[in-house]
Order: sequence, then structure tokens, then C-alpha cells
Amino acid sequence: MPAADLYAVFGNPIAHSKSPRIHALFAAQTGQHLVYEKRLAALDGFATAVQEFIALGGRGANVTVPFKLQAHDLADSLAPRAQAAGAVNTLIFENGQILGDNTDGQGLVSDIVQRAAQPICGQRVLVLGAGGATRGALLPLLEQRPQQLTLANRTASTAQALLHQFCEQFPEASHGVKVAACGLSDICGQFDLIINATSASLQAEVPAIPENCLASGALAYDMVYGKELTPFLQYAQQHGARVRDGLGMLVEQAALAFFLWRGIKPDSNAVYHTLLSEL
Ligand code: ATR
Repeated sequence: MPAADLYAVFGNPIAHSKSPRIHALFAAQTGQHLVYEKRLAALDGFATAVQEFIALGGRGANVTVPFKLQAHDLADSLAPRAQAAGAVNTLIFENGQILGDNTDGQGLVSDIVQRAAQPICGQRVLVLGAGGATRGALLPLLEQRPQQLTLANRTASTAQALLHQFCEQFPEASHGVKVAACGLSDICGQFDLIINATSASLQAEVPAIPENCLASGALAYDMVYGKELTPFLQYAQQHGARVRDGLGMLVEQAALAFFLWRGIKPDSNAVYHTLLSEL
């Protein structure tokens, strides 16, 4: 049998990563002969670590915190969604070239629209936060043609600058969508979908949003996941929302990366349920 194709995820820290487990499940499911490793890169050694991996025969890689911006700069060419995100989570090594893509935002959208059966098209969408996670989600969310997309951030000027920069770079993307940026306390109106893309959950905090911004039957989504509901999701549930954490986004972004590398779509639903039972 020929040697297995080699893939990896690069991060620092990396021990916690579920990506090797997810890709091993995808590979078993689809009969693909591959090995997927965790690779700890030194904080100042990401590019070197990637070059060493390519020299070993690596075919592709995922990239996680804190290297997504460096991966963007390292790539010889970028997919439009990686350009829009300003960050790369998936690398493809082909013919001596490094191609950079970003499957995070599309993974989020797939999890919401397909698994959670929550349409985005025609809906009022609120995204909390204005960091890398929000930037990565903007283009895929706008491609769904929501009625309204509001970015709200603790620091209003950061959300305004992000939206301004994005609209200058992709003037067509927001066509027909009412886009706005504001501070958390300036949020007005109600939303059908509220996505928490802040890092507040990692500090066990809830973004200070107005109580009445969740429409009846709204979906509250947190990009963070864990055994327990995040504080934001607990808050949203207490206010009558349906809730969903970021485990599905993790699986979907991986499924999209797997497709880029192998040309085969795995059954992400089965893998999602396996991971859920292992949490
Ligand atoms: P990431 O790349 O994961 O998006 P980041 O770039 O550090 O991370 O951005 C973190 C985001 O979470 C920011 O929008 C931050 O708001 P500020 O711009 O005001 O700093 C937001 N954030 C972090 N802690 C928060 C909290 N406790 N409440 C509300 N927003 C918070």
C-alpha cells in the first residue's frame, strides 16, 4: 500500500485540538488513506514549521490560533473568502505553491442553515464582536442575503472600522442588505439570529446587549462550544431564544477543508453526533 497522505493542524497551544479526531473520522468514513497530526509551532516559527512539513511531504494543513494571520501572509495565493477574512485556516500544498483558504465562515453558515435549519436569507442578523471571528464570517453571511446585518461591538469604533474596510474591499457583497455597525448598547430593534463572535464566553462573560433584541423564536449562536451552555447561551435561553454552540461550526469548517483536499464531502452530521457524545 502506498504511504498515507500527510496533513496536520498547526497552532500554539495545540494539545486541545479536536481536528485530528474529526479528520480521522472523515477519513475512516470515506475510505481515504491519510494521516492527520497535531503540530505545535513556536510562536515565532510558524513559517519554518510549515516549510518543514511541506519538505516531509505534507499535502495540506489547518491553522488555528494564533497563526491564521501569518498563514494568510504565507500563502502564494488566496481564495476570495480568505481575502475577505484576512485570515487563513486551510492550506493546500500543490505544485510547489501554498494556497490559502478560509472555511470558518462557510462552516458557520452551513451549521446554522443546514443543521440548525435556521434560514439566514431575508432574516435580521446581529453579529456581536469585531475581531477576526467576525471578519471571517462577514462574506459567507452576506452571501446568504439577510434582510439586515448589524455588527455590534463593545468598542463601537472597531465595528464601524471593520464594516467600512470590508465594504470598501467588497462593495458588491452587501448589495441589497441593510448593513450597520454600532456599540452593544446602541443595538436597536429585534433580530432573528444573534451570533456571538466575541471572546466573552472564554472569560465567562455575556456581551452587554439590550434585553429585548431577541425576536420571538430567535436563534442565539455562540462560536464557542463546551460541555455546558456558554453564559451568552444561558442568557439567551432565559430570554426565550433557541440556542446552539460552535461545535457544529467546528465540524463543518473541517468538512469543507477535507473537501478542498480530497474532493469528497464527508457525512459531517454523523461526525458531529460522535463528537457531541464524546464531549
Ligand atoms: P477573535 O480573533 O477570536 O475574534 P479578537 O480579535 O481578540 O478575537 O476579538 C475579540 C472580540 O471580542 C472583540 O470584538 C472584543 O471587543 P473589543 O473590540 O471591545 O475589545 C470582544 N470582547 C471580548 N471580551 C468581551 C466582553 N467581555 N464583552 C463583550 N465583548 C467582548
